[in-house]
Amino acid sequence: MTVHFIGAGPGAADLLTLRGRDLISASPVCLYAGSLVPEGVLAHCPAGARVVNTAPLSLDEIIAEIQAADTQGLDVARLHSGDLSVWSAMGEQLRRLRMLGIAYDVTPGVPSFAAAAAGLGAELTLPGLAQSLVLTRLGGRASPMPEGERLAAFAATGTTLALHLSIHRLVDVVAELTPFYGADCPVAVVWRASWPDERIVRGTLASIEAMMAPEIDRTALILVGRVLGAEVFEHSRLYAADYDRRYRPTGPHPHFPA
Ligand SMILES: C[S@@+](CC[C@H](N)C(=O)[O-])C[C@H]1O[C@@H](n2cnc3c(N)ncnc32)[C@H](O)[C@@H]1O
Repeated sequence: MTVHFIGAGPGAADLLTLRGRDLISASPVCLYAGSLVPEGVLAHCPAGARVVNTAPLSLDEIIAEIQAADTQGLDVARLHSGDLSVWSAMGEQLRRLRMLGIAYDVTPGVPSFAAAAAGLGAELTLPGLAQSLVLTRLGGRASPMPEGERLAAFAATGTTLALHLSIHRLVDVVAELTPFYGADCPVAVVWRASWPDERIVRGTLASIEAMMAPEIDRTALILVGRVLGAEVFEHSRLYAADYDRRYRPTGPHPHFPA
């Protein structure tokens, strides 16, 4: 018996890996984390599967579901939205499974920041403008930020930020970032990226608050940085005609002779 932790993707049912789909299809038990896991993904559960929404359950109750499946020798597909490496609460479940000696594996999923960038048609690292992407959030009731991870500390780098779990504090985001990025810095809010009702709002740190509609609430990402909408940036040297590289040598190569 194995618990398969599977990243269910950002929303669109076809943004699921083939491995994730096959594991869901082969697992007689499916535990999924609430409304962010789309019905189209749950449709891969086999007929007669036990399918449980874990949103109202405590950690103990979730582990009890897994132990019950373990007793019956039934594999479990454990679905969380996006990818499991960020804000999935997978860590605490894995720790309990290690203590119980229950086997598990992990299948990655498409994270929401990648779906948001795709919706924007944006590369978040452009030569000369930003070469890093910070995935972060403002502190919340359940998860205070560790000292040293203040937004201002990341903002001091000037690089691209992808703010999760923070749309309800947009006013604080704007206030904290404006001294570092400038009021004219581009901002995009992507709500329900990849869902059929996805919405994108593009503005600047000065304008974005006034552009928000009330329905743009929890499931939204705030992307901030000069890369958004930039047309003035350097070319990647990788594709420059005079750039000597393994797969496109500009002349006789000492290591890869013609
Ligand atoms: C609990 S976290 C889950 C993150 C997820 N594990 C991932 O890989 O993106 C939920 C937050 O992720 C962001 N999020 C998740 N799905 C989203 C989507 N489809 N569009 C925009 N933001 C999304 C929102 O900021 C939301 O508050």
